[in-house]
Amino acid sequence: MNRGVTTVLAGVGAVALLATTAACSSSREAAPAAGGAATGASGSLIGIAMPTKSLERWNKDGSYLDGLLKKAGYETTLQYADNKVDQQITQIQNMVNQNPKVLVIAAINGTALAPVLATAKSKGIKVVAYDRLINGTENVDYYATFDNYKVGQLQGEYIKSKLSGLPKPANLEPFAGSPDDNNAKFFFSGAWDVLLPLVKSGELTVPSGKSPASNADWTKIGIQGWGSDTAQSEMQNRLNSFYTGGKKVNVVLSPNDSLALGIAQALEGAGYKPGPGYPVLTGQDADKANVLNIIAGKQSMTVWKDTRTLGDQVSKMVDQIVKGQKVDVNDEKSYNNGIKVVPTYLLPPVVVTKDDIKSKLIDSGFYKASDLGM
Ligand code: BGC
Repeated sequence: MNRGVTTVLAGVGAVALLATTAACSSSREAAPAAGGAATGASGSLIGIAMPTKSLERWNKDGSYLDGLLKKAGYETTLQYADNKVDQQITQIQNMVNQNPKVLVIAAINGTALAPVLATAKSKGIKVVAYDRLINGTENVDYYATFDNYKVGQLQGEYIKSKLSGLPKPANLEPFAGSPDDNNAKFFFSGAWDVLLPLVKSGELTVPSGKSPASNADWTKIGIQGWGSDTAQSEMQNRLNSFYTGGKKVNVVLSPNDSLALGIAQALEGAGYKPGPGYPVLTGQDADKANVLNIIAGKQSMTVWKDTRTLGDQVSKMVDQIVKGQKVDVNDEKSYNNGIKVVPTYLLPPVVVTKDDIKSKLIDSGFYKASDLGM
C-alpha cells in the first residue's frame, strides 16, 4: 500500500551499473528502529522526502527508491516539497506523525531540519540523509551519497584536459551551487582545487573577477536554489559587462546540469554557436535536456550519478536498519555535520561526454536510445 501523496512509477531498470563491492565497505551496528527489532519488512512504513519535482533527477530518485522499498514489502510515503524549506518541514512532520520506521530525506536546506528531527528521534525513528547531508543535529543516523568532492574534481580535471586547445590565458567563468545545499561546497572545492592553481599560474583568467580567492569563498558565486533562470541571468550579466569588444568566454565551470541549461541559453543569446569557439561547459546529473545539449554541442560533459545505485544502496540500508542488522558504510571521516561525523556510504560519479553517451547511458539502461533521438 502507498500512503504517499505524490508517488510516481519507477521508470528505470533495476540493474545497478556501478555495483559497489562489499569488499570496500565497513559496517556499523544499527539499533533496531522504532517498535523494536522487526522480524520482517512487511507493513513497516518508510517516509521519503525529496526536494522538488522540478528537476529530473529527483523524480527519478524518488520513484526508483519508492519502487524498491515497495518491492521489499514496505509501505511508503513519498513527498516532494517544491524546493520550499517550510513545506518540506511540514511534510516531514506529517510523516513523523505516522510513525515510520525510517525517514529518508534529501534536504532542501541542510541546516533547517534539527527541530523536526528531534521529534523523530523522540519517537525512535531512524534517519538516513539522502544525497545531501543534514547539518546541525545529532539525529541523523546515516548518509548515502555520491562522492561530492570527486564530482567537482572530475569537472576541474575535464577543464584542465581541454586547456591545450584554448587561448592562453583562457577566459573562465566559474559558478557554484546553492549556498544552502551542503553538497555545493564539496562540488566547488573539488573543482577549485584543480582550477585555482591554474588561475594563479595565469593559464586561466576570470574577466568578471568572480574568482573566489579560496574554496571557503564559494558562496559569493553560489546560485540560490540551483535555478536555471538565475544562472542564465548571471551569465548574461557577466557576458554583457565583461565580454565587450569581441572578448570571448572559453570555459564555464557549472556545478550541475540545471545551471548549465541556463548558462547555455545565455551563451546562445549572446551569439555563441556550437562548434569551434563554443566554450567548454561542465555539468552534473546527466539530465535528459543536458544529454541532448551534449549531443547538440551546447554542453561539453556531465558528471553522471547513476541514481539507481544510490537507490539500491539506500534501500539496502533501510532494510538493515529495520531488521537491526549492521548497516553498510564506507566512509566514517568525511562528513561532519557540525555535531558529529555521520557514517556514510559513498558511490562513485562518472564523466560522460558525447563519445560515451551510448556506452554509459544507453547500454546501462539509464536512457533508451529513443529518449535521446539516437
Ligand atoms: C545534488 C545534485 C543536483 C543539485 C540540484 C545536489 O544536492 O547532489 O545532483 O544537481 O542538488 O538539485
